[in-house]
Amino acid sequence: MAQKTAQVRETAETLAKKQREISVSEFFAKNRHLLGFDNPKKALLTAVKEAVDNSLDACEEAGILPEVEIIIGNTGVDRFLVSVKDNGPGIVKAQIPNIFGKLLYGSKFHSLRMARGQQGIGISAAGMYGLLTTGKSMKIISRTSPRRPAHYYEVQIDTRKNRPEIIKDAEMEVDFAQGTLVEIELEARYQRGRQSVDGYLAQTAIANPHVTIRYINPDGEVIEYERAADVMPDRPKLIKPHPYGVELGVLIKMLKESKNRTLSAFLTGEFSRVTPRVAAEICERAELSEKSNSTRIAREEADKLYAAINATKIMSPPSDCVIPIGEELVKKGLAQVFEAEFYEACTRPPAVYRGNPFRIECGIAYGGRVDGEELATVLRFANRVPLLYQQSACAIHKAAVTTNWRSYGLQQSKGALPHGPLTIMVHVASVWVPFTSESKEAIAHYPEILKEIRLALQECGRKLGRHLRRQRRDAEANTKRIYIERYIPHISESLAEILALKQKETDALTDLLKDILRNSRKF
Ligand SMILES: Nc1ncnc2c1ncn2[C@@H]1O[C@H](COP(=O)(O)OP(=O)(O)OP(=O)(O)O)[C@@H](O)[C@H]1O
Ligand SMILES: [Mg+2]
Repeated sequence: MAQKTAQVRETAETLAKKQREISVSEFFAKNRHLLGFDNPKKALLTAVKEAVDNSLDACEEAGILPEVEIIIGNTGVDRFLVSVKDNGPGIVKAQIPNIFGKLLYGSKFHSLRMARGQQGIGISAAGMYGLLTTGKSMKIISRTSPRRPAHYYEVQIDTRKNRPEIIKDAEMEVDFAQGTLVEIELEARYQRGRQSVDGYLAQTAIANPHVTIRYINPDGEVIEYERAADVMPDRPKLIKPHPYGVELGVLIKMLKESKNRTLSAFLTGEFSRVTPRVAAEICERAELSEKSNSTRIAREEADKLYAAINATKIMSPPSDCVIPIGEELVKKGLAQVFEAEFYEACTRPPAVYRGNPFRIECGIAYGGRVDGEELATVLRFANRVPLLYQQSACAIHKAAVTTNWRSYGLQQSKGALPHGPLTIMVHVASVWVPFTSESKEAIAHYPEILKEIRLALQECGRKLGRHLRRQRRDAEANTKRIYIERYIPHISESLAEILALKQKETDALTDLLKDILRNSRKF
């Protein structure tokens, strides 16, 4: 008989010995799929994407037309060295270790401004993945001005403590006046196609016509995207949160930490669109004095304040904080990559979800050399960054399949994308893009966002429908014309017989009939 092994039961005390804090880097090292490092092909794309997105953000923040160079070299079996260099403002020496060797460290998380990055995880996560898979440090060279030397750093992340470890730190001679170069060696796989680095850079060029990209792939090929526009997009404005979007817990925290003494100053100072008059109205509704000390507001009073905020009419957030690409540049961008016969674009007015302003843009390219047999292709962008994975989990996809494309003359099965030689591009621009995960691959299904995307798609769809109807009418008229033309000589011959015409007169009659057909309005 099998002997029963004695089960050791845990007690609160034995469990207590095992309970300890988990560092954010340990968590993400175990859950690297949440950051986009779940397979070697995607890992390569994610590493390049994080570095390029940072470069573009930094250049735009500094008002510099971005020039980015990406080099990927094969260093062994399933090993690659990724190097990304920009002409941005550079990074001051003291910040380099924290930026690259610490998760959740960045300049964008605490501000509501439209940017590609928002979480403060991206580049350090890419470095951490490189370190875990190859044991190699991340290398950074950064120069902030031609008058100062460049700094060279080798940094590793200490995952147990979520702290940077500096392996090397030196001054260095470089041939560029200003900018940052980041190098990561990692386990990865290089493949071409839509979900690859090549696809990501091609799509980046569509949504960022002001950027010049030079890319050398692992096969040594040089791919260049010259900028199509010499003007920088307008700089997005920084905004304060809108009171409608703030949750109760956040409101309580803000009240505690506020430096504004009175409740009225707190409301007007911490939020956008709260004028002294609106603040007075909120306080009155919440039965609180405008002069009460904001840091001493009790829990129940905060409840009342929260309810009063949501019951008061407050102007929508300002819209100059979300900068669209623009209809003309969307069409230009699509035309650069797709040779189609029809282009259309639509930029929607700003709207709000959870208090955050956002703006939707849509572009379509139809016909030409785009393959006609398959389903339409959807290109998704969030704050000008192409999204390449998790298509079916994304609000953009949901809006595209729930739009009725049949009414615009296309074939469509229920719950699917339309058939036809169609490329649909959708750009969601916002001060805070609600991604479904830290890997920033899909946009959450907020009803306000879905509605706006649908409206943009419908506007482009209606114009496409008109184009297709016109095209069909022209094609039908052409068939009729060819048909009638075929009978003209027979008609002339019959008339010649009846009227005893000479050959010359018969020929003239034939020409005349052809002219009448050609000039007939219907054909
Ligand atoms: N090439 C660069 N030039 C200048 N500053 C940079 C560069 N790369 C990163 N930074 C700075 O480092 C910070 C951290 O970058 P990181 O990619 O980790 O986070 P993020 O871009 O803020 O957010 P996300 O996690 O969404 O990418 C950025 O906020 C930016 O201030
Ligand atoms: Mg980033």
